[in-house]
Formats: sequence, structure tokens, C-alpha cells
Amino acid sequence: MTKNDIITRLLRQPERSFFLFGPRGTGKSTWLQQMLPDAFRLDLLDASLFLELSRDPHRLEALIGGRAAGAWIVLDEIQKVPPLLDEVHRLMGLQKWNFALCGSSARKLRRGGANLLAGRALTLSMESFSAAELGDSFNLEFALNWGMLPFVWNDPQYAADILAAYVNTYLKEELQAEGLIRNVPPFVRFLSVAGQINGQIVNVQNIARDAAVARSTVDNYFGVLTDTLVGHFLPAWRPGLKVREATQPKFYWFDPGVARASAGLLRDPTDRLWQGAALETMIYHELRVYNEVSRKQRLLHYYRTPAGVEIDFVIETAHRRPDSLPRVIAVEVKRAERWDRAWEKPMRSLADNAGVTVERMFGVYCGSRSYQFDNVSVLPFADFIKALFAGDVF
Ligand SMILES: Nc1ncnc2c1ncn2[C@@H]1O[C@H](COP(=O)(O)OP(=O)(O)OP(=O)(O)O)[C@@H](O)[C@H]1O
Ligand SMILES: [Mg+2]
Repeated sequence: MTKNDIITRLLRQPERSFFLFGPRGTGKSTWLQQMLPDAFRLDLLDASLFLELSRDPHRLEALIGGRAAGAWIVLDEIQKVPPLLDEVHRLMGLQKWNFALCGSSARKLRRGGANLLAGRALTLSMESFSAAELGDSFNLEFALNWGMLPFVWNDPQYAADILAAYVNTYLKEELQAEGLIRNVPPFVRFLSVAGQINGQIVNVQNIARDAAVARSTVDNYFGVLTDTLVGHFLPAWRPGLKVREATQPKFYWFDPGVARASAGLLRDPTDRLWQGAALETMIYHELRVYNEVSRKQRLLHYYRTPAGVEIDFVIETAHRRPDSLPRVIAVEVKRAERWDRAWEKPMRSLADNAGVTVERMFGVYCGSRSYQFDNVSVLPFADFIKALFAGDVF
């Protein structure tokens, strides 16, 4: 990938008004520019526009003026002026214009009392690049080390500096400037611990101790990371209601490079353990992108059997109904060049469970060959991504 190439994103533009959220720098503004080149664009990063519309949200209608019916109006950085949403709501009622509302977080909008337009607008989310979007330029080794942010792929030789700046500017300064974090030092300590537990089951008590912050503060910080789509809780899947099944979610950063920066490990070579978590982070990322662009929105989980063995991803392929068995796809991810058949065991034991229908099982690894062992497909990362986006996984 060279500097001036614009990568075509998989996200499709809806026909009617929508919200677009996503972490900083994932390419939201660039995508809007590509999808809606003729739209009337208002960027609330512009200080004078910000002041004008904060003082008087009604000015929005006058700014749109006599634009034709059906015209698109793009409001970028909408979270900076939450009261503007009420005005957008009113203007949508006129059924004249379409709005594309873009921001890094729904948190402030919700807190500002706005109800995200009561279902009048769809909500989309933008993630870092997908391996499917990068195509032949994709490089798994690089992604495991530095993640998938557009900034990083545009300037790969500066990946470490870019990621360090990302955590500093966006995660510390921005969240503070937006009023989401009041006290920076404890948040910085939390970020470091949260970076280190990427891909692990969340134990709030341990995190609170390691970061020397109160438990309630840890909960609040996780809320900030998940509301800004910088982190995601992957819930534990519970086929039954057995007491012994794990119920705590795992926490994953949206991007393995940002997790590494947050953990303060940019200058240390990553070890196998770290790369294992990074590979899971990548798969979770790709599953979310596919869920979003296909609009399937299937529920994603991890599973820990009563015996304590884990399956990295369990995807429900149908809504659960009381009169039928849950139907799932199981995916086991391994940072290894050779596939060890013992790794299939947790998936196979789940498939043997009479209380669930396992439709397909996948092993994803870093080797170059694919295998079909009975009903388990073992695929190199790139082949799994191809199958996923071809709709062959779920
Ligand atoms: N599709 C793309 N192809 C190549 N580079 C891209 C693409 N999308 C974004 N970039 C680059 O990534 C950087 C961030 O993109 P952009 O400003 O669109 O992100 P954003 O999500 O709007 O960020 P913010 O939340 O900070 O407004 C820019 O330098 C841009 O050039
Ligand atoms: Mg932007």
C-alpha cells in the first residue's frame, strides 16, 4: 500500500439517515467523503461553526438553507454538540433531507439526553481496516505487531510513534477534553493494565488493585472504552444455566496495535503469548467487521466449558428460542505454524453435547495449508478471512 492509495471500505452507505460511530482515526470522515462527495458538510471541529451551533442549534436549518429535497447533510464530530441532535430530530421530521451523523462516541450524546433519534436513524460502526479490505497488501506478521489503523498502514515505518501518539492524544487528551475522564493519572494507570489484559477474562478486583484505582472507577473506565468503541466485552456463552460455567466476559481492544501501545509495550518485541492474544483480537475484529457490513449482527461469545477449557469464539447463527436447541459456529484460534489436532477437542466436545447444535467448526492458525478433519475446517488466517467475507462461516 502506498501513501496516496485510498482503500475501498466494505461498509455500505445506507439509503437513509444514519449515525456512524467508531474509534478515532478509523477512517470515518474519509469514508463519508467517498460515499457522499456531493453532501453538504458541516464539521464541528471547525471552532467558529462549533461556537455558532452550540449557542444556537436552530442555525442548522438556516445553514442548510434551500438545499433540495433528498440532499445529504453530513454533520461530522456530532458528539461535540449534543443539543444539535434535537434540532436534527426536528429537521428529520420535515422528511426533506438525509443526515449522516458522525462521531467517535455515542456516550456524550446519550448523556446529553438525546435518545439517538428514537430509531429514526440507523447506527453503523467503523473499525480499523479489515484484512479483506487490504487484500494483497495485508501482512499478518505486521498486523499482529502493529494493528490495522489506517494511519499505521499509511506509514508503516513509523508504526510505533503513531501508536504512541494515538494513545496519548486520543485516549488520554481527547477523552479528558470531552469530559469523559476527569482525573488523568489513574486513567493512565488503568490503560496500562487494560492493555496488558487484552483478550483475558476481566477480573475487576485484580485490575483495580494493579492500577491502584477504585473498583467503581474501573467499571466506569471500561464503560468509557466500550462506549467509544475502543474496547469490547466478549461475553461468556452459556448454553445452559449451569452454575459452574464461567460468566465473566473477556475484554478485547478494538485493535492489537492500540492494545500494545496502551500496555506500554511498543518498544519491546512481542512474545508468542502476546501474539496469541493479538491473533484473537484480529479475528474478533474481523468477525465484528463482517457482522457490521453483512448486517447480520450475530451474537459473538467465547466459551469456557465446565471442565475449564476454552473455545475462542462461539457465534450464534439463529435467535434462541425456548423450543429449539441453540445453533452455533465454533472458532478456535492458534498462533502457530503447525496445527495440533488436540486443539480441536474443546470444539468437538461441545459438538457432542446434546443441548446444542454445532453447525460448523473452524481452526484458524498461522500455517499455509488448509485441512478438513471430518467436520472441522482448519484454515490459515487469510483463507479464514476469505471464507468469512464470502459468507461461508456464518
Ligand atoms: N480508506 C482509506 N484509505 C487510506 N487511508 C485512509 C482511509 N481512510 C482513512 N485513511 C487515513 O487514515 C487517517 C484517519 O482517517 P479519518 O480522518 O477519515 O478518520 P476518522 O475516523 O474520521 O478519525 P477522527 O475520529 O479522528 O475524525 C487519515 O490520515 C486518512 O488519510
Ligand atoms: Mg473524522
